[in-house]
Amino acid sequence: MELVTDPKELQSYLDQVRVEGKTIGLVPTMGFLHQGHISLIERAVTENDVIITTIFVNPLQFSANEDLSTYPRNIEKDTELCLKAGTNVLFTPAVEEMFCDTVLTSISVSNLSSVLEGVSRPTHFSGVATVVSKLFNIVGPCRAYFGEKDWQQLQIIRKMVIDLSYPVEVIGCPIIRDHDGLALSSRNVYLNSEQREIASIIPQALQNAHERIRGGEKNTQPIKEIISEHILSSSQISVDYIEVVNGESLEPVIQVDEETRVLIAVRIGTTRLIDNINPHIGINPI
Ligand code: PAF
Repeated sequence: MELVTDPKELQSYLDQVRVEGKTIGLVPTMGFLHQGHISLIERAVTENDVIITTIFVNPLQFSANEDLSTYPRNIEKDTELCLKAGTNVLFTPAVEEMFCDTVLTSISVSNLSSVLEGVSRPTHFSGVATVVSKLFNIVGPCRAYFGEKDWQQLQIIRKMVIDLSYPVEVIGCPIIRDHDGLALSSRNVYLNSEQREIASIIPQALQNAHERIRGGEKNTQPIKEIISEHILSSSQISVDYIEVVNGESLEPVIQVDEETRVLIAVRIGTTRLIDNINPHIGINPI
């Protein structure tokens, strides 16, 4: 596995890879890797000749009051995991290498970016879209892999790729969950042991909703109420949003159909957690 930090060096290495007719798979991450990230790399390995994993804690997607400086990092462990999972090049640029000058350009995928997460994090998704676009330009991948855990992010990147004609296939990969159903996230490390136990209420509430829908409930209002009641059974969780939306447009729906996605954001202490399900499938295993 090659370690590269200079974007220009990566670009010229990959120009050669393309001349050889090889396909390139990109797995963009912010590091502190868990099994969710590993599943993306493993999927990329099965579909491409050369796998580029990037670790870059992107300052553009954090607002001033967020956890940029304390975001968990462990580059030694991440390097080992990337090697084991089949990464060919691990790209870990410093902030100054990615953004050698003040960044004046920003990509904004309107509408999709201002709802759900965008309400409390209004600048987040332009930061994500801008850095992902830059990574696409540096790497020139055939395919890029993103977790469904960040469902809204995935839809925004898909739309950006369509709108800007990026020749990249965006692959969404299933959420990987812990033994009790909690979606794996680098930020789970912020939870103390009591909070971690309480967090299992999130997948339980989503699974409850799935069971009601399987039982024939189609109206989204009672589904949202079921989730809310379940979540608020713990005084230590507060709800940021519970929404039932069209999975692609992210617009709220009043009846569940084949395209529906249920999304949730909560806070436990100072930690904000997000999750989502396809309500017809629910959570497996729980
Ligand atoms: O999902 C993430 O880890 C980040 O938002 C991404 C896509 C790597 C962009 O910084």
